[in-house]
Amino acid sequence: MSVLQIAGFSGNLHRPSKTRSLVEAVGSAVVADRPHRFDLFDVVDAAPGLASAMSRQELSLPARQVVDAIERADALIIGSPVYKGAYTGLFKHVFDLVDPLALVGKPVLITATGGGPRHALVVEHVLRPLFGFFSALTVPTAVYASDADFKDGRLVDSKVLSRVNEAATQLVRLVDGQSGPVSVDREPVQLAHHARRVALG
Ligand SMILES: Cc1cc2nc3c(=O)[nH]c(=O)nc-3n(C[C@H](O)[C@H](O)[C@H](O)COP(=O)(O)O)c2cc1C
Repeated sequence: MSVLQIAGFSGNLHRPSKTRSLVEAVGSAVVADRPHRFDLFDVVDAAPGLASAMSRQELSLPARQVVDAIERADALIIGSPVYKGAYTGLFKHVFDLVDPLALVGKPVLITATGGGPRHALVVEHVLRPLFGFFSALTVPTAVYASDADFKDGRLVDSKVLSRVNEAATQLVRLVDGQSGPVSVDREPVQLAHHARRVALG
């Protein structure tokens, strides 16, 4: 098995960060028992010179290294805190400076964190379209976690953790070139509710 380079990038503006912690949890699950390498970056790494750079050429060395790592990686695990219903501005600024062709066909696993469940669909309605622009190969399962899912900065909620494993398994299958269904350890509560509503008209 060849050693693949997996890069994590989190849009947090402060540390410690729940989002960085979530991306790290996913990255650890992806490389567990595999030779792949996982490197984690965040906006704090890129911050010197990031906000003032209006073009790639104006990036400081630390910011350029983060953008280079995103472009070079064989696969990405990305995450952002929800700020005002979307990703953080500097998360988007980093991707605005990524070459539009650099992520074509690249597996990308999407995560986000927010204060509560209200903006959980930011992963589908805001983040997934961004990687659609890049023609990236987004992993079907995205992971969203709220403040209450963390304890002492670590992800502890069992349902979110099982979603982390589900998404990580899907990413591994993409990078290792496998196919076939992934077993899902999830309660079908919402599906049952939906089916009942459909049956009742
Ligand atoms: C400026 C700002 C705006 C925020 N806007 C939202 C929001 O619209 N929806 C939400 O659920 N949480 C919102 N939050 C809460 C953060 O998304 C949440 O606490 C997140 O987990 C913080 O991640 P971090 O620890 O990686 O910084 C906001 C926080 C800040 C500081």
